[in-house]
Amino acid sequence: MKHIKKLIVSAAVSMLLLTACGESGDNNKGVETVPIKKSAAVYFSRVGNTDFPSDIDAVSSASLNRIDGTLKGNAQMIAEWAADEAGAEAVEIIADKGYPVDYNETVDLAKEEQGKKERPSIKCSISSFDDIDTIWLSIPNWWADLPMPVYSFFDEYDLSGKNIYVFVTHEGSGFSSIVKTIRDLEPDANVVEAVSVKGGSVPNEEKTIRDYVKKQLDKS
Ligand SMILES: Cc1cc2nc3c(=O)[nH]c(=O)nc-3n(C[C@H](O)[C@H](O)[C@H](O)COP(=O)(O)O)c2cc1C
Repeated sequence: MKHIKKLIVSAAVSMLLLTACGESGDNNKGVETVPIKKSAAVYFSRVGNTDFPSDIDAVSSASLNRIDGTLKGNAQMIAEWAADEAGAEAVEIIADKGYPVDYNETVDLAKEEQGKKERPSIKCSISSFDDIDTIWLSIPNWWADLPMPVYSFFDEYDLSGKNIYVFVTHEGSGFSSIVKTIRDLEPDANVVEAVSVKGGSVPNEEKTIRDYVKKQLDKS
């Protein structure tokens, strides 16, 4: 409860500073944009990393969506639209450990992992990104940072020379310093702040995501 209150306060403060859904300009720290020929949409979501019961109430549960009977996470939905628009594969980051069904327990566990700088072991549905030039990365903001399994992803794969377009879903904190952190983790990649979307608005933002991806493809 204490953490939820903290999140709500931090969300309220951030919402004074942010619009619910914002696209900022490209900012690639001088690393060249590479032409987009083959891309992948990589994502991490609570759904897919949590053993939810099949009858879980997706309407009143935070960040769960039921689309045509299938449970989907917010970051997952963004990644799937980006993948579809770009003709790319959607690649999920799955932490072997899994996360608790209870939201508050997940919040507490994530804080603990962050404090210990843990790198949970992960698997992805593709083993190599060698022939991929562009990643549409879609992740939730966890405690104003990347979820720790996403750090594991960056440890495991060298994404130098690629474009990484970063999409973040959140409850008010927006990007926090996530893009800066990814630039530090992948200094030779072209890391671009793409779009941030507030969790509850994700189901309404398909066009925003598709338009953003299409714009990058058209520019390339
Ligand atoms: C462990 C945890 C920590 C979170 N920390 C924040 C936060 O610091 N700021 C924020 O705005 N939202 C925070 N959230 C809310 C999520 O970013 C938001 O619900 C997101 O849309 C979830 O995406 P998903 O469905 O793909 O997992 C947190 C959620 C969880 C589970």
